[in-house]
Amino acid sequence: MQDVRRWNIEEIIANKRKGCKDSAGTEPLQRDQSMKQSELEQLLKSMSLEEKINQMLQVTGDFYLGKTVITGPMRENGFTEESVAQAGSVIGLLGADVVKKVQKAYMEQQPHHIPLLFMLDVINGFKTVFPIPLGQGATFEPELSRRCAQAAAKEAAVAGLHVTFAPMVDLVRDARWGRVMESTGEDTYLNSCFSKAMVEGFQGSDLKEPYRVAACIKHFAGYGAPDAGRDYNTVELSEHTLREFYLPAYQAGIEAGSALVMTSFNTIDGVPATGNKWLMRDILRDEMGFDGVLISDWAAMEEIIYHGYCEDRSDAAKRSIAAGVDIDMMTGIYSERLLELIQNGTVEESLVDEAAMRILELKNKLGLFENPYKDADEEKSREIILCREHRELARECARKSFVLLKNEGILPIRKEQKTAFIGPYTDNHNILGAWSFIGTSEDAVSIRDAAMEVLDQSKTTFFQGCPVLDDTVKLEGFNSGEGAEEESKAATNLEAEKVKQEKMLQEAIEAAKEADLVIMPLGEHRLQSGEACSRAEIVIPEVQMELFRKICQVQPNVAVVLFNGRPLDIREISGKAKAVLEVWMPGTEGGHAILDVLTGTYNPTGKLTMSFPYSVGQVPVHYNEYSTGRPHVPGKDKDRFRSKYLDIPNTPLYPFGYGLSYTSFEVSKAELDRREMKLGQVLNATVKIKNTGETAGTQVLQLYIRDVKASVVRPVKELKGFCKVHLLPGEEKSVTFEIREEMLRFYSENKVFESEAGEFQVFIGVDSSVEDYERFYLRK
Ligand code: BGC
Repeated sequence: MQDVRRWNIEEIIANKRKGCKDSAGTEPLQRDQSMKQSELEQLLKSMSLEEKINQMLQVTGDFYLGKTVITGPMRENGFTEESVAQAGSVIGLLGADVVKKVQKAYMEQQPHHIPLLFMLDVINGFKTVFPIPLGQGATFEPELSRRCAQAAAKEAAVAGLHVTFAPMVDLVRDARWGRVMESTGEDTYLNSCFSKAMVEGFQGSDLKEPYRVAACIKHFAGYGAPDAGRDYNTVELSEHTLREFYLPAYQAGIEAGSALVMTSFNTIDGVPATGNKWLMRDILRDEMGFDGVLISDWAAMEEIIYHGYCEDRSDAAKRSIAAGVDIDMMTGIYSERLLELIQNGTVEESLVDEAAMRILELKNKLGLFENPYKDADEEKSREIILCREHRELARECARKSFVLLKNEGILPIRKEQKTAFIGPYTDNHNILGAWSFIGTSEDAVSIRDAAMEVLDQSKTTFFQGCPVLDDTVKLEGFNSGEGAEEESKAATNLEAEKVKQEKMLQEAIEAAKEADLVIMPLGEHRLQSGEACSRAEIVIPEVQMELFRKICQVQPNVAVVLFNGRPLDIREISGKAKAVLEVWMPGTEGGHAILDVLTGTYNPTGKLTMSFPYSVGQVPVHYNEYSTGRPHVPGKDKDRFRSKYLDIPNTPLYPFGYGLSYTSFEVSKAELDRREMKLGQVLNATVKIKNTGETAGTQVLQLYIRDVKASVVRPVKELKGFCKVHLLPGEEKSVTFEIREEMLRFYSENKVFESEAGEFQVFIGVDSSVEDYERFYLRK
C-alpha cells in the first residue's frame, strides 16, 4: 500500500482541484469538472486488484464508528480490517459532521483517495416523514410524490447521504405480505408513473446539483409476489406475467435514469435473482438498458447458498459477479473470495474492472471526486430538516392519500356536535410507518394534538380505550439506533395491565354514550407491516375490535379512522361503522391532515391502489384479472360450475380505484370520436362529469381499456390513464382522454410488446368496477 500519511483531506481536495498527481501517482485530474471517462479508466488501471474488489464491498456504519469490532465470527463472514477500511460504500452512517469525519479519515488512507459512498433507505421521507408509499399511490398524483422525494433527498443530502435505496416499485397483489406498504400498489401503469416520478424527485436532472441523491430501483425482480404472501418466500411467475405486469415499473425507473438497481431475495424461474445471469445480464442490462450500479440486497449474496443454488461462498461470488452484481451489501463474499478466484483463473479480472468502473462512475456522477462531502452541512441540516415547507408538503400529501371508504352522512364533523375520539390511535405518535427510523415519533402530530388546535375543546373528549395490541404481543423494529422509536413492549405485569385496560374501556364507553359522534382511530401497529411482517390474518387486532363492538353498542354514530400498512379484512368495521376513513401510516403531519379531512376543510380525494379483500381467502385479489373460461356474468355468480367461492363473493370489499368524497358526482358514458383507429391515429374518449352535491370536490377519473381478443389472454380491464378534476357544486366539465396505439401494446405470443388489431372496450369511471363501456376497433 502507498504511504499516504503525508496527505490530509484538504490537501487531497485542493490538489485534485489543481490537477496535481495524487499520492498513488495517478495523472492530474481536472477537478473543476467531473472526471472524464478516460481519467476514470486511468484511475482504474492504477488501482490494485484488492483495491478494486474492496470498492465492491458495502458495510454498515458501525464499522467506522468503532461499534463493530472484527472478531472471529466477522472474520468467518469474510470481513477483515483491511477490506472494511477500503470498502467502497457504507450503509447507515449519517449526520453531516459524522459523515465528514468518516469521509476524511477514509480518503486519507484510501490508496487513491477515492471517496466513500454513503447510502441508506430513505423511503417515505427522511426526518420529515410523508405517508407510506401505498398511501402516496392513493393520491393518484405522481407529481406530488416527485416533490416528496425531492424534499426527502434534500434532507438526506444535507445529512451527508449520497444514495437512497428507493423507490421500491414491486407490483403487489397479496395483502398478507408486509411490504405492500412500500409499493404504490397492484397496477402496472400507476406504479410506473410513480416509479418515474420518485426517481426524478430524488435525482433531479444532474446528481451533482445540490440536494440530489442517487435513486435505487428495487427489488429486481418480482419480489412483490412471494408465495402465500410470506416474506422471502419463493416467487413463481411465468415469463409472460413477469414481463407484462412486473417489469414495466422497474423499466420506468430505469428510463428515468435511476443510478442503481437492487437485486431481490427471491428466485425467478428457480434461480435466485442475485445469481441470475439471465435476469441481470440479458434482461436488466441488455434489454432494459440499465448501465448503472447493481447492488445486492442485504446479505442476498450469501442467501443464494441457502437457496440451494451455490455450493459455497466462492461459488456465490462467481455466480454473482457473472450476473453482474457490482456491490455486495454486507456479506464480505466478494472481498474474501474474488482475489483467489481471479488468481486461479475461475473468474475473469475484467468482471471486477467492469464492476469497479461502474462504482467509480457513480461517485463521479455525484461529483464526489471534486467534493467528497457533497451537501453534508450541519448548519443547513438545522435549516432544512423538518422545515415548515417540508411539513406543509407532508400535510398536503397525507390528506390527499386518505381514502373515504364509507360515509353515511356523519362526516365531516359538525361544529355543534359533541365529539369523542376513542381508540389507541387517538393520541398516538407512532404513525410514521415501518421504514421511518430517521423520523421520530416526537416530531409527529397526533390526532389529539391537531384536534386541540381546531375543535371546540368544551365539546371534544379523547380516550385511548385500549392498547394497540393485546398485552402479550411483542414486535421488533429495524434498528434501535439513534432516533429509533420505542418499539411495542409486551406487558410484564399482566394482572395490573388487565385492571388498567378495564378502566380505560369503561371510561371510553361512558364517553361514547354522552357524545353525538364517536371517531375511532384504530389500526395495525406500525410494526405489523413492513419487512418480515407477513400476516395470515389481516385484521385489526382483536383487543381493538372488542373496544369497537362495545362502543357500537352504545353509540350509533361511529366513524372509524383506520391506520395500517396494508389492505385489511374490515368487513365487520365497514358493516357496523357509519363512516370509515383510511389514513394508512400518514407520517409526520398525520394528525393535522386527518383533522383537515374530518372537519371538511379538505374534501377527501384518495383512491385505493390495492383492493381491500372481502376476506383473506380471496387474496391475492386484484382488479386486472383474466376472464377465465367461466367468466363473471352479472347475476350468474352463484351458478354451479362458475369460477367462484361457495361462501364469499368474487369481488373485493373495496376495489382498486375506489374512494368517496363529501360531494357526489355523475359521470356520463364514454363517447368516442371514432370507431376505428389506425396506426398513428389518436382516438378521443370523452365523458362529462358533474358535481351533483353541495360541496366543491375533486374526482379522479380513470380510463380503463379491455382488449377483447388477443393472441394471449388479456385482463378484464387495465388502467391506461387518470386525471384529477376539481368541480364546484353543480359544475360540469368535459374530460377527454387520448387513446393511442402504444397504449394497446402487450407482451404477445411473438414475445414482443405489440398491439394486435381487433376490438377494444373503453371504460371511464371513478373506480375499477365501472361497467359501462364503448367499443372501437384497431385496424392494421
Ligand atoms: C431490504 C432492502 C433494504 C436493505 C437495506 C433489506 O433487508 O430488503 O429493501 O434496502 O435491507 O436496508
